[in-house]
Amino acid sequence: MYNIRNVTEDIVWIGANDRRLALFENIFPIPEGVSYNSYLLKDEKTVLLDTADSAVAGQFFENLEAALDGRTLDYIVINHMEPDHCALLADVLRRYPDAVLVGNAKTFTIVSGFFGLENVKRMTVKEGDSLVTGKHTLYFYFAPMVHWPEVMVSYDATDKVLFSADAFGSFKSLDGNLFNDEVNYERDWMDEARRYYTNIVGKYGVMVQTALKKLSALQIDYICPLHGLVWRSDFSSLLEKYDKWSRYEEESRGVVVIYASIYGHTENAAEILARMLSEKGVKDVRVYDASRTHVSELIAEIFRVKNIVLASSTYNAELYTPMKNLVADMKSLAVQNKNFALIENGSWAPYAKTQMTEMLSALKNCTYEDISLTIRSALKEDQLASLDALAASLAKSGF
Ligand code: FEO
Repeated sequence: MYNIRNVTEDIVWIGANDRRLALFENIFPIPEGVSYNSYLLKDEKTVLLDTADSAVAGQFFENLEAALDGRTLDYIVINHMEPDHCALLADVLRRYPDAVLVGNAKTFTIVSGFFGLENVKRMTVKEGDSLVTGKHTLYFYFAPMVHWPEVMVSYDATDKVLFSADAFGSFKSLDGNLFNDEVNYERDWMDEARRYYTNIVGKYGVMVQTALKKLSALQIDYICPLHGLVWRSDFSSLLEKYDKWSRYEEESRGVVVIYASIYGHTENAAEILARMLSEKGVKDVRVYDASRTHVSELIAEIFRVKNIVLASSTYNAELYTPMKNLVADMKSLAVQNKNFALIENGSWAPYAKTQMTEMLSALKNCTYEDISLTIRSALKEDQLASLDALAASLAKSGF
């Protein structure tokens, strides 16, 4: 049975949830699922804005047919060619062979790469081009690298709706609700929205800033992303977060302590440091075991605060693997503007700090605490003063 909902009188959400997928992009755990949003504009012409992932093909086609209500499909706007949104493109065209594909030059390079489809009707748009569908006019603006190079957003100037592609999206299925004002966003969505942004788009902060500037000129009443909730109120809180994340600015003055520990001795130092931080008044202290916490959650936390403590064992004369993977991911995502404190452990040849320092040197605008610690197997009584001094230094900015 179809399951659709109107966004405006003429725009219908025809997406679907996937609660079965274990790993989004085969890498990110999504314990709360994800939605693949697709939209149909019903005007004198009908316009499908993006398709969906093949996992929800059955629901998507029931929804599309129900929303079309016997009409044919005239246009398919491709805002983003990643397969979680374009997987059903060829299937849609088999059902509606006269539909015109609307995309930019880069879109069609990727269309050809995935599907061929050289002989279907194509409309190639440039920045600012428009498509009149009757009483609605869609304008197309490019948002390269948010999240792929071909990404564009579409703006319906009639209903003032921005179809924002991956931007402003989130992990997490829709629980019957569709609009941001139907949920407790801060409590139930913010962590997954941050984890989605920082891991999917986090590397491209400069491009996100460019897109935000471009979109600031538009009067927007609705934001329709490809994942998660549709926004129809309180845009400032959402835009504020995006602005912070894309400028790599912290949301909190807290301290995140991440340890990678083999037998628990490095963990012990991390726990004591966290206790000292709390005793010195730092309210937002979080401790994570890099071996047990998915790297995507650690990345989201690293974006959230400025002060990061990395405590790691040495292993095979290198940085212990869970920490090495985390620091490599931080480099891949161009993490910047952080203040690091480093703690290493090594029973006979500590090397973790040297390798962390080398790897972190690739990150821009980062500072390092003067005090660092080398543990030889287990923390000693005479090292508590150094740990306390480190806690005091972090606490100066960590309230
Ligand atoms: Fe949701 Fe970049 O695809």
